[in-house]
Amino acid sequence: MSVKSDLDRLVKKEAFSLHMPGHKGLRLKNDTTELSMTDNILNPKAGIKELENAIAHIYDAKKAYLGTNGSTGLLMSSLLYAGKGEKIVLPRGSHQSIYKGLIDNGQEPIYIKNKIDKLGIARPVKAADYLTHMGKVKAAIFTNPTYEGYMEDYAILKPFLKEKVSILDGAHGSHLYYICNQVNNWMSLQVHSFHKTLGAMNQAAIILSNLDEDIREYANFFQTSSPSFPIILSIEDTVREMMSVKIDKKLQDIEWLKKEINNIKGFSIIENDDPLKLLITIDRNIKVEDVVGWLEENKGVFFELSTEKYILGLLSFYDSMGNYEWLVRSLKAVSKQFKMKEKADFEGETEENSYIPEMKMLPGEAFLSEKKEVDLRKSKGMVSGVLYSPYPPGSPLIAPGEIIDDYVIEKILTSKFDYTGCRGIKDNGIFVIK
Ligand SMILES: Cc1ncc(COP(=O)(O)O)c(C=O)c1O
Repeated sequence: MSVKSDLDRLVKKEAFSLHMPGHKGLRLKNDTTELSMTDNILNPKAGIKELENAIAHIYDAKKAYLGTNGSTGLLMSSLLYAGKGEKIVLPRGSHQSIYKGLIDNGQEPIYIKNKIDKLGIARPVKAADYLTHMGKVKAAIFTNPTYEGYMEDYAILKPFLKEKVSILDGAHGSHLYYICNQVNNWMSLQVHSFHKTLGAMNQAAIILSNLDEDIREYANFFQTSSPSFPIILSIEDTVREMMSVKIDKKLQDIEWLKKEINNIKGFSIIENDDPLKLLITIDRNIKVEDVVGWLEENKGVFFELSTEKYILGLLSFYDSMGNYEWLVRSLKAVSKQFKMKEKADFEGETEENSYIPEMKMLPGEAFLSEKKEVDLRKSKGMVSGVLYSPYPPGSPLIAPGEIIDDYVIEKILTSKFDYTGCRGIKDNGIFVIK
């Protein structure tokens, strides 16, 4: 029994569908719904249940639940499980989906500052930084690995988390189990995107649970009632495909790629903990955006993210050696084109802690309060009504309930990041509490 065999049987059999979706198989045959021959993600008993059991087994968890609303939906489910109105400790650099959970549940955040390194990258919070807060909170949130591929082992916190809900945002870490590098899989709830570093379709995610109770109702809470079978099938395909990936060979190829890039004039690989996150700096006399633009235009090479100081590439087990050779050739070409000479030098650049504006109201309370739009330049001292997250990576600059100050105004006005979905920001307006 598998999702694939259910769908194959159905596609062969079904001649006229009098059910949703309305495209009736014309767009994609597998895009069907819950029928007698298919399982139901909200209450799985057949193929989907088997897939969840297999994932729980592979990831060494008590239970696994699938989701088709990304890690976003399942992180919000985890926050819901932590309980309405509770105190939650979390890194300030957490993803916006966690803030959405805090807002939805009227929870009180206790933030830990991330260290921002010389490249402007938020590093993972240290285990010791959680300790002083443990007495006060119901739940603790951890992000591991970070977007840029830095990791932290939180095992020393185990005894302090016995009576708490520990939630791992492992959106970028689903592959770590396959390279035996997942160090935090003891936490109560762990959320992974299957579409980021593994091979499933966008929105595919899982939540792993080490709790004795069944948390299906929570896992289902933000789950659409029209889940995508192609997404579910892509999770099953990924699990099967991972069995035949020669991980050691893939890791060797990645090592080769990094060594080659380091040998190109003007390019350096920055060390991090996740082999799939390619962090690159370039000759500081050349603008990163010019190099990235040239590579897109002339070589068809597109990166995950670039800032003024670095480029982030996402590798995957689905890359081929041919892809890596292409990348090396392209970087050699761009190095020549821009006459690069030196490796980037970040001597003298300062490290700092993530900035946290003063909190006047709880995020949930502020989000639901009456708001008005004001000119960003005249908003100093007012209380933000909404969550403003530069994207990527989607960690908030200011949360609802926080006081807008000079730092925030300056950051928004000078930021090259996209504030997608932030009402008002594009026209230099900002929504504040009335
Ligand atoms: C750290 C982190 N957590 C959670 C998410 C949300 O993941 P998804 O896109 O699967 O909803 C992201 C997305 O970029 C992320 O970077």
